[in-house]
Amino acid sequence: MTTSTQASSAPTKTVVLGVTGCIAAYKSAEIVRALQKAGVRVKVIMTEHATHFVDPVTFRALTHEKVAIGLFDDPTDPIHHISLAQEADVMLLAPCTANMLAKVANGIADDLLSTTVLATTAPIVVAPAMNVHMYENPATRYNIGKLQIRGVHFVEAGTGYLACGDVGKGRLADVEDIVSATLAQLGIKRDLAGKHVMITAGPTVEPIDPVRYITNRSSGKTGYAIARAAAARGADVTLISGPVALQAPEGVSMVYVQTADEMLAAAEEAFESADIGIFAAAVADMKPAHSADHKLKKGADDSELSGIELVENPDILETLGAKKGDRVVVGFAAETDNVLENAQKKLIAKHADVIVANQVGEGMAFGTDDNEVWFLDHEETEALPLMSKARLADAILSKSLDFLL
Ligand code: PMT
Repeated sequence: MTTSTQASSAPTKTVVLGVTGCIAAYKSAEIVRALQKAGVRVKVIMTEHATHFVDPVTFRALTHEKVAIGLFDDPTDPIHHISLAQEADVMLLAPCTANMLAKVANGIADDLLSTTVLATTAPIVVAPAMNVHMYENPATRYNIGKLQIRGVHFVEAGTGYLACGDVGKGRLADVEDIVSATLAQLGIKRDLAGKHVMITAGPTVEPIDPVRYITNRSSGKTGYAIARAAAARGADVTLISGPVALQAPEGVSMVYVQTADEMLAAAEEAFESADIGIFAAAVADMKPAHSADHKLKKGADDSELSGIELVENPDILETLGAKKGDRVVVGFAAETDNVLENAQKKLIAKHADVIVANQVGEGMAFGTDDNEVWFLDHEETEALPLMSKARLADAILSKSLDFLL
């Protein structure tokens, strides 16, 4: 079993993050990571003053993009502020100093960041951070009021001990609040923030000998889509994956396994701290009683391959469902016949809150990009239309939330 946290998949939305000269500038690195975890591309503009607090290399390494600082820094792009302004789906200023606030409020454009803000038509989110007296100064309050009237979204500064030694309002707001406010402008929900979601995905592989194994056609697309969607909605995600040819979703803790026994061990551990368990894996129901340490011989008389003894694998969903406590448990049912009848039996036998039932067979569910499923709970059955596995993932998470206490 191996574990890791990795990156992947092309983001479709861009946040241009403006970092200004403030002690809280180091927190912008956390903001970058959290936005990326939600599947967003981040490009960073720093003011000259900001570079005294954090080296641009930090943001370049995190974003894999050039970090823009001066108006004339990029010889390949003579109108850099316009291209950055157009690339932004949201413009975020975090931390935003009193000086930058004043410039933006009054339409002053005398550096790359303030010029880009003036040139953008994207929604603007501002997270101010400064000394308490600067924050309470009527000039700053007036500037904030002016920007609010113009539709700029503010993430209020927090109260507490400030780097200058004063105590009061002026601390940069929590990273999670800044990220939520930014994602809200992109239409991305954060309703799983603070929750731990455990997901099983893909097939398991049960070795017969060093070259042969029992497995099935699961591609892992469904489980990976759920993991990606859960991370984007703010969850801490553990994805326990059988062998698949997919990249790990951004910001998800990966546990790679081969066999059902390994998947059970990993799931038992992750389930301990999980709020929601989603069992999308196609676990092999049977495994060879003994896995040979040499390649088994075929042959008419002395075949070692005939009569391989099979035994049942542990049922991971049933085992964990039996000790679910307050956790929400979502299982799947993959059926060729009597889909709803069989799914209903699994709902009860496996102690699930919800079963996602799908018909499987030639060209259906396994390996496809779309799927048509039913949600069964102990009250009702709902038929969902054919949809992408990405959309289905969101629907499964929303359904799970209905059961979270
Ligand atoms: O991975 P994709 O290519 O995207 O395909 C998606 C899928 C078809 C794999 C998925 O939609 C799906 O149906 N997953 C469950 C497959 C399955 O094993 O179904 P089942 O009816 O045999 O099992 C019922 C439930 O018990 C499932 O939640 C399964 O994860 C779980 N189970 C089954 C056997 C076992 N030994 N342990 C288990 O935990």
